Amino acid sequence: MKTFTKIAAAFLSGALLLGMTSCGAAKKKLQILDTAYAIEDYAMAISKDNEGLKAAIDQALKELTDDGTIPSIIEKYIPAGATVEKKESETSDYPEFTTIQEGKLIMATNAYFQPYEYYEGDAIIGIDPEIAKAVADKLGLELVIEDVEFDSIIAGVQAGKYDIGCAGMTVTEDRLKSVNFSTPYATGVQSVIVVEGSEITDVDKLLEGNYKVGVQTGTTGDIYMASSPEDGGVGEDRIERFAKGNDAVIALQSGKIDAVVIDNEPAKAFVAAANK
Ligand code: ARG
Repeated sequence: MKTFTKIAAAFLSGALLLGMTSCGAAKKKLQILDTAYAIEDYAMAISKDNEGLKAAIDQALKELTDDGTIPSIIEKYIPAGATVEKKESETSDYPEFTTIQEGKLIMATNAYFQPYEYYEGDAIIGIDPEIAKAVADKLGLELVIEDVEFDSIIAGVQAGKYDIGCAGMTVTEDRLKSVNFSTPYATGVQSVIVVEGSEITDVDKLLEGNYKVGVQTGTTGDIYMASSPEDGGVGEDRIERFAKGNDAVIALQSGKIDAVVIDNEPAKAFVAAANK
C-alpha cells in the first residue's frame, strides 16, 4: 500500500513536471482557506422612497420561503443534499407599491458571480434571477435584468434607476444609510483564496503579513480589507481592486497578488475554473 502510494506520487509529480515543461510557466493551483473571514446576509436593495415595494417584496419572499420555492432554488445551485418540501403557495393581497416602469420590476445585478448570477449564453441565470423572477411573478410584474458594475448598484437604486439591487448583496450598516434591504434570503461567507502551498494558511496570517490582497471593487471584501489593521483589514496600501471577482483570481494565479477575499460560492466556482 505504502509503496503503491509512493509510486503513484512519483508518477504524479513526474506528470506534473512534464505538464509544466510542455506549457511553459506552470499555472499555479489555487485553494480556499478553511477559515472564513465573515458570515453575511444577502438581501435585495430597495429605494428608501419605496416602502411599499419593500413591504410587498418581503411578503412575497416570506411566501416563497414557506412554500419551499426559495430553499429549492438555493439547493438547485448549491446542492447540500437537502430534501426540500414544496407546498401549495400562499398568495394574498400585497401592500400597495409602485415600480419605476408600470408592470416591470427592474433588477440591477453584476452577472459574474456564479452561482448567484452568471451568463449561460446570452441569458443571465442563477439564484438571484430565479428568486427575483419568483417574486416578480407573485407581484404580477415582468422581471427586467440589467447587468452593471457592482459598485454602481446601490447608487442606481437610490437614484431611482432600478427597483431592486439583487446581486449576492450583503446587508451592511453603511449600505442601510442609503437604501432599504428586504428580509435576507440567503447567507454568504467571505473566504480567502490563496495559491496551494502559500504561507498564508489562515486569516490571521493574511492580516499580519505584508501581503497584497485582491478584491472586487465596492464589495464587502473590499470594505473589510481596506479598513485599517485595528479594524480587521489590511489597509488601502495593500489592496488591489478589480471590476470582476474573477479578474482578481486570475491576478492571483499569475502571482501578481497574494490572496483574494471574496464570497465563498463564487470563490469555489472561480477556483474550480482556474484549476482546470
Ligand atoms: N456579498 C458581497 C457584497 O455585497 C459581494 C457581492 C458581489 N456581487 C456580484 N454580483 N458581483 O459586497
